[in-house]
Amino acid sequence: MLFNPKPKKKRNELYDREEELSALKRSIEKGVPLVVLLGIRRLGKSSLLNVALDESPIKSVKIDARRVYSQLGSVPQSALAEVILKGYLKAFPKERIREAIKGIRGVRIAGVGLEVSVAKGVNLSEVLERINSMGGRFVIAVDEAQYLRFSSARYAELIAWSTDELENISFILTGSEIGLLEDFLRIHDPESALFGRAHVKIKLKRFERHQSLDFLRKGFEEIGLEVRDGELGEAVDELDGIVGWLTLYGYNRYLGLSHWEALKKLKGDAKRLIVSEFSKLKELSPRYELALKAVANGRHRWREIKEAVELLEGKKIDDKNFSNVLNNLVRYGYLEKTVGGYSIPDPLVELAFK
Ligand SMILES: Nc1ncnc2c1ncn2[C@@H]1O[C@H](COP(=O)(O)OP(=O)(O)O)[C@@H](O)[C@H]1O
Ligand SMILES: [Mg+2]
Repeated sequence: MLFNPKPKKKRNELYDREEELSALKRSIEKGVPLVVLLGIRRLGKSSLLNVALDESPIKSVKIDARRVYSQLGSVPQSALAEVILKGYLKAFPKERIREAIKGIRGVRIAGVGLEVSVAKGVNLSEVLERINSMGGRFVIAVDEAQYLRFSSARYAELIAWSTDELENISFILTGSEIGLLEDFLRIHDPESALFGRAHVKIKLKRFERHQSLDFLRKGFEEIGLEVRDGELGEAVDELDGIVGWLTLYGYNRYLGLSHWEALKKLKGDAKRLIVSEFSKLKELSPRYELALKAVANGRHRWREIKEAVELLEGKKIDDKNFSNVLNNLVRYGYLEKTVGGYSIPDPLVELAFK
């Protein structure tokens, strides 16, 4: 159902995104070596990726880089190699896997189920080279790929090498922290390994108002719940075109909450989630939170925000240092920079910091 709160997996659960889905599928089918899928949190990147991979005839594996990082505190080559080989094992006939893996340093398979185990010293490029040499195209999708930066391995270089040399392998990378992913890939930096590499970039936007309303209408129709137009309008006023929030609102109503209860519960849940997501930045410096609070409370110009933060801290802040704070908030997706100054792209993030 449209209001299923988990990332969607099947086309019939995905509302619209026609254009983005066909762009992604086309890239996969044409063997574009690198696709980058961007958008702030909860716009449906993982869902779109799942559906595109599900609908495509090309075999693939998906890696959740954020999850690997949160489990291990870094993203080592052995963890990626293991997920990739397990995905390969699922996708291709077993005999072929045995053949593919034979002799790769640090990789063992055993048992009837062909359990893969990968030792620390494994070399991921060797694994990719071997998969490539077996023929048969294979897509490696890395969700929240900005987390690849937490590694001693140089993954941007590895991806650059793979896109040049390995014709059967292609990469799809998604990122919520758009600036971080872009800095990590450095596709536009002449000094970097990926500079000038052919790639396709797909950027997810918030739904337009009419789409948000239509999404809610269709979702309620699907679960047979009659909801007044005024309530739909109010929900969209509060949640904007962020499909993740609209989905949770719909799900709360599905569970039996009234309009107000559903919105209230959503705001409470969202706040907890947002605060916990923000905690890693806050650990770096409490100034990030103060700056975000200033913007949430109506300060938008660089100078105004700085003055508000100085007032809270009770001391002057160096200009360059403060610019770094705002730039980082933009890179992490908490702020957007427009002609009118800085703003918060997600109404519930704004609310959480008010
Ligand atoms: N096009 C869509 N149609 C219906 N639900 C969607 C759509 N895109 C995302 N969702 C829902 O929104 C929430 C966030 O989606 P997700 O794919 O996890 O976003 P992201 O990966 O960008 O953070 C999930 O509950 C998902 O089910
Ligand atoms: Mg996601």
